[in-house]
Amino acid sequence: MNGYNILILSGSTRAGSYNQQLADLFGEYIESKGAKAIMLYLSKYPLPLYEQDIEVSSFPENAFILHEIFSQSDGVAIFCPEYNASYPPIISNLLAWLSRVEGGGAAIFSKPYALGSASPGSLGGYRGLMSLRQSLVLQLGSMVLPEVITLPFAHHEFTTQGRIKNERAIEHLEKMAIALLKYVQVFSGK
Ligand SMILES: Cc1cc2nc3c(=O)[nH]c(=O)nc-3n(C[C@H](O)[C@H](O)[C@H](O)COP(=O)(O)O)c2cc1C
Repeated sequence: MNGYNILILSGSTRAGSYNQQLADLFGEYIESKGAKAIMLYLSKYPLPLYEQDIEVSSFPENAFILHEIFSQSDGVAIFCPEYNASYPPIISNLLAWLSRVEGGGAAIFSKPYALGSASPGSLGGYRGLMSLRQSLVLQLGSMVLPEVITLPFAHHEFTTQGRIKNERAIEHLEKMAIALLKYVQVFSGK
């Protein structure tokens, strides 16, 4: 499993984001399995709110940069909060711009995607991940792993050092890292 590049991002740029903490821990597991975790911080690549007129007049440079970052990965993991039972605007906007880079859909979406979510709520963001799965699979052509990780009651689940207290979640996170790398191995043929 060595040599794979796994792109990992959080769908929240909030300071102290639970999803970013989950993403960071997932990165540790990916590295512990011999692959490279490439952490993508969306706050570094701001994008205007997608509008078709902006696309025509001034396609944002950051969309091309992000497209290149996604292209270079063998697999992607998105840790995404649930907003109103769906996925948040920052991810919706990202997918909108990425999907509009001309001729580049397959290079960024046709690969394995792992999804996870942390939420203070009791469902752990599960419904938001179902929406995200729908967009990735039904429209963008991604292979999304059947299992997702959810961390309900996230406000009680992290130590002050950003470690997860919940043994089940720790085990699940490691299993998801292994599963993603197995899918990447099959998909990439490397
Ligand atoms: C606009 C908005 C809508 C939200 N909707 C939901 C929701 O539908 N389900 C849920 O579990 N949490 C919901 N939340 C709470 C988020 O899960 C919570 O703010 C979480 O901490 C966000 O993730 P983060 O810690 O990574 O920033 C919502 C929060 C916001 C700001």
